[in-house]
Amino acid sequence: MKFFVDTADVDAIRELHELGMVDGVTTNPSLIMKSGRDIKEVTAEICAMVPGPVSAETVALDADGMIAEGRELAKIADNITIKVPLTWAGLQACKVLSGEGRMVNVTLCFSANQALLAAKAGATFISPFVGRLDDINIDGMDLIAEIRQIYDNYDFSTEILTASIRSANHMKEAALIGADVATAPPNVIKAMANHVLTDKGLDAFMADWAKTGQSIV
Ligand code: G3P
Repeated sequence: MKFFVDTADVDAIRELHELGMVDGVTTNPSLIMKSGRDIKEVTAEICAMVPGPVSAETVALDADGMIAEGRELAKIADNITIKVPLTWAGLQACKVLSGEGRMVNVTLCFSANQALLAAKAGATFISPFVGRLDDINIDGMDLIAEIRQIYDNYDFSTEILTASIRSANHMKEAALIGADVATAPPNVIKAMANHVLTDKGLDAFMADWAKTGQSIV
């Protein structure tokens, strides 16, 4: 499973990238707002650091506007993925932009039918939001499993990009189902390293080591 980082925080991306944990980056208008940076400037910086796909989201609500914005965002770098919402206009824009050979990420997906339409419209990635479904008492991971089955049934090449990930457990579940990609905030990716028994074991080793009075260097 590829790891994308869901942030526009350049320092946080760099820390994970140096560890080889970043296969791509996703941003959205809320994350750009949170960064306090200019969208083109920060996106160019991210694209120069990470060779994989970097999603930049359009904000127009009509297809022509999304297409114009998508083409403008694509000028930032070759690894830009144009992100459009899963509306009828978003699907129209996806069809045109993907037909031009551009990578398109269709976002705000909450149903298997929406994911089916995005694949038919030529999406490179579909972004189902698992955390926001969990928020309304619908199991977000059931949606990932449904989309996996449908895409496999018909050999769609659209990649399932599990989004709105809130916990390390979401990462494990996405990987078990066979999602192609998971995009998560940096703190969630780092939390995957944590285990209470690791901490407990390390404490015991340190206590015993202190009793030996030795040093290694
Ligand atoms: O990947 C989509 C993400 O940015 C939304 O996450 O936690 O706001 O639902 P969240």
